[in-house]
Amino acid sequence: MKVLVTGGAGYIGSVTAKALEDAGHQPVILDSLLSGPRAFVRDRAFYEGDIADRALVSRIFEDHPDVECTIHMAARIVVPESVRKPYEYYRDNVSKSLELFDQLVVLRKPRIVFSSSASVYAPVEGFEADETAPVDPPSPYARTKLMMEMALSDLTAATSMRAIILRYFNPIGSDPDLESGVYVREPTHVLGQLVRAARGQQPGFTITGTDHPTRDGTGIRDYVHVWDLARAHVAAVERFDQALDRVGGPSTVVNVGTGHGVTVRELVTAFEHVLGDPMRVVEAPPRPGDAVGAFANVDKASAVLGWQAEFGIEDAIASALQWADRRQEVLGYD
Ligand SMILES: NC(=O)c1ccc[n+]([C@@H]2O[C@H](COP(=O)([O-])OP(=O)(O)OC[C@H]3O[C@@H](n4cnc5c(N)ncnc54)[C@H](O)[C@@H]3O)[C@@H](O)[C@H]2O)c1
Repeated sequence: MKVLVTGGAGYIGSVTAKALEDAGHQPVILDSLLSGPRAFVRDRAFYEGDIADRALVSRIFEDHPDVECTIHMAARIVVPESVRKPYEYYRDNVSKSLELFDQLVVLRKPRIVFSSSASVYAPVEGFEADETAPVDPPSPYARTKLMMEMALSDLTAATSMRAIILRYFNPIGSDPDLESGVYVREPTHVLGQLVRAARGQQPGFTITGTDHPTRDGTGIRDYVHVWDLARAHVAAVERFDQALDRVGGPSTVVNVGTGHGVTVRELVTAFEHVLGDPMRVVEAPPRPGDAVGAFANVDKASAVLGWQAEFGIEDAIASALQWADRRQEVLGYD
């Protein structure tokens, strides 16, 4: 099967392209390289351009009329930047996605897998969120994701379009062959900071927020290996029609996580175990907007997609550390 992957030069998109190839499919990439590096699309069918460029999207389908499904991942993704630049986020993530979706309907290419985010959820008691849990996106970024979920629900009700919306929890790790991974120069997410500290690129690791109502006071997340996340997309495209038949509607929302919550302290312990060395850890108050977090109820992913995570937290940490050693060679910076 051929699959169009928008944002396929990005972190998750490049690993998903690899997982598609691994399963015998052919990814076709559309990416503007706004943030994704060119090194991640080498050796793949690649179109450099914008998702809202209808002529380009038409050309891709003229060149590849046998593309059966579009995985729409292209987006701006940096939460604090979305607070400073809401216009750019609503324009790129909402308006441009609408142009892409409408063009796909015009081209009679109705199957869409959409990258949404667990950040749409409201805080949930017990921290376990299933797909029916209340939503309350806390940032412009997360609001763009929820808006697109709502738009897809309306578009699929009114047109031939069909959508599987994947709400990702917290992807970590890299391509198992170390061909791609986290490419931002100074990652701000918690594992990225641990990796930087372990490599002596920052003095230590700071736990921000130790008074949350979790088992040890630190924030809780559901860290899913990016390869498992990529495989969830393969399951979604392979079982697309079957999955929607099963739910009995033209669109559906599916959590993608491991089903296990890991606190920041637990992550640090697992990290030290993989590293074989203790980390220098300091504690600080929470940063403004820090959320206590959640983990996924993954029953629906298993029932509808036949997918579940296979890797554990230590596999994902080891993968992140190995990628950090390889980044220089692939990207030209450490
Ligand atoms: N990384 C996470 O933790 C996470 C969590 C939940 C959801 N997501 C979603 O997953 C998707 C992929 O995230 P990622 O971490 O790989 O991000 P990324 O920034 O690495 O990838 C996004 C890609 O989209 C491209 N792009 C952006 N705007 C474009 C446009 N208008 N036209 C064409 N290409 C464009 C960028 O160049 C980049 O390569 C995003 O939709 C994101 O919202 C990510």
